[in-house]
Amino acid sequence: MAKAIDVGTCFLVGAELRNGKEVFTRERDAFFSMPKEDFSEEMLTDAGAKFMHRGDELFVVGEDALKYCMLTGKEDSYRRPMAQGILNPSETEAIPLLELLMTGILGEATEKGEIVAATVPAAALEKDMDVTFHKIVIERHLKKLGYDVRILNEALALIFAENPQGRDERGPVPFTGIAISFGAGMTNLVVAYRAKKLFEISVARGGDWIDQHVSRARNVPFGKVTHTKEKKLDLSNVDMRDSIQVALDIYYEDLIEFTLEKFAEHFKNSNSVIDYPMEIVVGGGTASVPGFVQKFEETLKNVELPMEISRVRLARDPLHAVARGSLVAAVSMEKKKKKEEAERKKREEEERRRREEEAARFAVEEEAGSPVIPEDIEIETEI
Ligand SMILES: Nc1ncnc2c1ncn2[C@@H]1O[C@H](COP(=O)(O)OP(=O)(O)OP(=O)(O)O)[C@@H](O)[C@H]1O
Ligand SMILES: [Mg+2]
Repeated sequence: MAKAIDVGTCFLVGAELRNGKEVFTRERDAFFSMPKEDFSEEMLTDAGAKFMHRGDELFVVGEDALKYCMLTGKEDSYRRPMAQGILNPSETEAIPLLELLMTGILGEATEKGEIVAATVPAAALEKDMDVTFHKIVIERHLKKLGYDVRILNEALALIFAENPQGRDERGPVPFTGIAISFGAGMTNLVVAYRAKKLFEISVARGGDWIDQHVSRARNVPFGKVTHTKEKKLDLSNVDMRDSIQVALDIYYEDLIEFTLEKFAEHFKNSNSVIDYPMEIVVGGGTASVPGFVQKFEETLKNVELPMEISRVRLARDPLHAVARGSLVAAVSMEKKKKKEEAERKKREEEERRRREEEAARFAVEEEAGSPVIPEDIEIETEI
């Protein structure tokens, strides 16, 4: 059965169907490094933590990494394999640790050629980033686990999850609209028509960018900003006495405006013309804060987009929406693949039967058509 994995800067989310139900596995995309001492491995095993060792170091991975960071207060030892949507170029252990996390979430393929859909971002406009390298590292590892790997843009996955309805002169058009995934490291946008990507951009700004700027502007630790954002912030009801919330509101607006302006600017330069209203679907962790859609709609009024917008909608379960959409795509691709394989087998079987029949017919014809040597002719042989 097909599976999916959303490989994100902050979280990795796996998705699969169990008894017809979507099941998600979420793991923090992080690790905590500590020197290998005699007792440490035993201690980690007893605590049930996921870890691996390399040389003289031990790496606690996933959610447990954050726990160890908070327990010890050693922020420098809290490391992330990804930064701004792709493998972190300044993290030496990025590849083995990301591989370990992906293996933990998906496991090996349960049948040969099982399809897995994995998500990647589009290259960011304001940054020179190597998405190809990131893509190949993910693809190779998943192949090693036995999967038939399909790579998707993460905003396109939102289109599959939410099925926005477009319209043209003939009526409603499924899987047509604009999707924006507001993640931790990046914001990805696609415009799709009938599930095909017409246009894509991304900016290297997301939840991390908001938290860093608020932390700097208010001179408060990054972790405190993230905590306020995730636990207290409501963009439709900002507590003006809380200076962190005020700053978060400002940077949220800035992120939305920047994304929409870049979209308007670059879409105008593309050859696409859309002359019917489009729906916008937003998802990702950064969009899950209360009041986000309202903030988005207000900001939208200040930006001139090259098409009419019919409505803005938050994806159901925005933190899992990218993984859900990737699973929708994986299931559909696997169905198609199995159907094609069955048709190919049927064609091969028909072809084999046809050849056998032809061979049999040919054999009969040869027998019937061969000359018969009259009995009165003596056949002369060599010996
Ligand atoms: N309830 C919440 N309110 C506001 N922000 C939240 C909430 N929950 C999570 N976030 C933020 O969402 C971000 C993580 O979102 P998501 O899991 O979509 O990112 P990602 O897929 O890991 O990153 P990317 O797509 O950029 O590679 C973090 O910045 C986190 O602080
Ligand atoms: Mg993401």
